[in-house]
Amino acid sequence: MPQTVLILDFGAQYSQLIARRTRELGVYCEIVPHDRPWSELRARNPAALILSGGPASTMTADAPTMDAAAFEAGVPILGICYGMQIMARELGGELVRLEHAEYGPATLSVTTASPLFAGGPRESRVWMSHGDAVTRLPAGFATLASTPRCPVAAIGDVQRRFYGTQFHPEVAHTACGRELLRAFLLEIAGLRGDWAMASFVESAVAEIRRQVGGDRVICALSGGVDSAVAATLVARAIGEQLTCIFVDHGLLRAGEADGVVAAFRDILHLDVVAVDAGARFLAKLAGIEDPERKRVIIGHEFIRVFEEEAAKIPGVRYLVQGTLYPDVIESKTPQSKAGDKIKSHHNVGGLPERMDFALIEPLRMLFKDEVRALGRVLGLPEAIVARQPFPGPGLAVRIIGDVTAERLAILRAADAIVRAEIDGADLDPMPWQYFAVLTPVRSVGVMGDGRTYEHLVAVRAITSEDGMTADWARLPHALLERISTRIVNEVRGINRVAYDITSKPPATVEWE
Ligand code: XMP
Repeated sequence: MPQTVLILDFGAQYSQLIARRTRELGVYCEIVPHDRPWSELRARNPAALILSGGPASTMTADAPTMDAAAFEAGVPILGICYGMQIMARELGGELVRLEHAEYGPATLSVTTASPLFAGGPRESRVWMSHGDAVTRLPAGFATLASTPRCPVAAIGDVQRRFYGTQFHPEVAHTACGRELLRAFLLEIAGLRGDWAMASFVESAVAEIRRQVGGDRVICALSGGVDSAVAATLVARAIGEQLTCIFVDHGLLRAGEADGVVAAFRDILHLDVVAVDAGARFLAKLAGIEDPERKRVIIGHEFIRVFEEEAAKIPGVRYLVQGTLYPDVIESKTPQSKAGDKIKSHHNVGGLPERMDFALIEPLRMLFKDEVRALGRVLGLPEAIVARQPFPGPGLAVRIIGDVTAERLAILRAADAIVRAEIDGADLDPMPWQYFAVLTPVRSVGVMGDGRTYEHLVAVRAITSEDGMTADWARLPHALLERISTRIVNEVRGINRVAYDITSKPPATVEWE
């Protein structure tokens, strides 16, 4: 078991960010709900605790709290924003509700030397977001830093190794944030910072062997990075006991299905059953124009094909799933619980629980970027590890309207040009995702001396961090021109190309 930091989640938007920053420093951490009894947390032998921020006010009767026994355990603690306030309150300090909450940047001045700010500059920009403030410190604490509007912006009890920051060290806008977290985790808490993917492989392999014993295991490959890494890791542990099933729904991009099978069979030497189910999916999709119905049909059909194939393999007890940490964190923020459904994302490979298998989810404690790092450690080809996000329902949601074999062929050809041109353009930064969309719009053109009446293709290229929000990429005009000229000249059935200049929100990344 690696040295572990527990992040007590008080409902912050930023809890996952704290976890990511911690892991970037080579420290393994997990997010746990704030109200877990200390006896339960202690059983996991935490090397330090981080108390997250949160939307509540410590001044209300039902303010989320934590088991105060944690303060008696001799474990170093860092409280962030609400986390600092709750620590101050529990240890006997006083707080006030601010008349005007403080949001956004502020200049932090370090006022007292301490291990938390050792090595950092005396002044730096930090990010604030709070409505309460500490006015009287608990016994043993000193004020370490302040901002013009927040006299108590950082506190510390060096003896007990308790620290608090009113600002958010985990966000990129806080210039000294990474250094501060490093100081807390590696210097103050004395963690080694040696958690890396290579050591993860070792413990994951041992755990999978222990769980599976001599039983048979199956896995659905989708072409995506999560299922690929999960399958490779499981194969590393149990070799030939694993069979991968690749359901080709016929909605992948040009060359992709063959590439997936070749990579897994020839490079990684996995046992892969490839099922060409394209005709079956097309038949189910015939005449369907509604995006949500397309998604549901594809999701169901995928499961049916997978079940049929799985039934042909005798004695299977386990199913590998590429579930990631953001999907399993127990305590979700209030923001993530609310929220309207915009579109039902189908993670093809997300198989139903009613299937009679026990689950193996070897990536369930990892973030996406860690999964990519793990894939590289396992020797997966870069084409898979660095693959752009691609929707489970595939090109079906990039063909607006009816999905037919002819339209798929047109879109594949146009999309291949978009990708090849952008890949070859040496852009910095590279767009996060880029592709073509086939619209049902037909317009008049002229080619040679003749009139044409053909389809409009839209090119979409976005910049984004995580797909939640996105901006359209400012591609150079010369590149757009090359893309447009090549598509119109090389793809029969298209005579006009448009570039999508809408951000998300208000648009979404995909058109359907
Ligand atoms: P939207 O269109 O919702 O897309 O702005 C955000 C990101 O999610 C991808 N996407 C999907 N991924 N199944 C997936 O696994 C889906 O059904 C799906 N729909 C959209 C999209 O490509 C973008 O990266």
